[in-house]
Amino acid sequence: MKRLVILISGRGSNMEAIVKACAAEGWPASIAAVISNRPDAGGLQFAADRGIATAVVDHKAFASRDDFDAELARVIDGFSPDLVVLAGFMRILTPAFTARYERRLLNIHPSLLPAFTGLHTHERALAMGCKVAGATVHFVTAELDHGAIVMQGVVPVKPGDDAKALAARVLTAEHRIYPQSVRWFVEDALVWSGDTVQHRDGAPQQLLLS
Ligand code: GRF
Repeated sequence: MKRLVILISGRGSNMEAIVKACAAEGWPASIAAVISNRPDAGGLQFAADRGIATAVVDHKAFASRDDFDAELARVIDGFSPDLVVLAGFMRILTPAFTARYERRLLNIHPSLLPAFTGLHTHERALAMGCKVAGATVHFVTAELDHGAIVMQGVVPVKPGDDAKALAARVLTAEHRIYPQSVRWFVEDALVWSGDTVQHRDGAPQQLLLS
């Protein structure tokens, strides 16, 4: 059984999708804890209602990123995770933190990386006239929104889309590729070659929605 710790900052719909898939599909994994940097994160209630341990490490209580990350790591390590899953966790992490969880820290980013790292991805994709958009699950490195890609979900940009409409379409892809990626990790199905990651049996690492 692999132990998962999921980090959130807000509504936690990706966390919810992972928790539900883990239970419904009987993964060899348990959700050890859901941790938020915001006391008011909506997702905390969902986790608590499911009997999952929750914790808050409020970044506002720390003078520096180093101090915050050190306390966050201490709380995470108290749950002895095999994998730490960033699910809408909106803090930039220090190199010390990302090194500590090297190859066992996943993130989801709402763009087709390496395009549009950082914030406001949907607005930027629309401003560029992109014809497709999507989301990327990747291992986390010290460089923001870089690291080996586990899976990408692609959706069309449709005429008349605004950022909200596009975000909602991308989110449907997120809710499929993130559980799938975490499942592969817990099944030991991900194989590293250099700085990239492949599925052991060549399962498609992309989801194309129309
Ligand atoms: C998702 O779009 C995620 O990709 C981005 O923030 C959003 C979080 O949504 N980083 P939720 O908290 O999982 O509902």
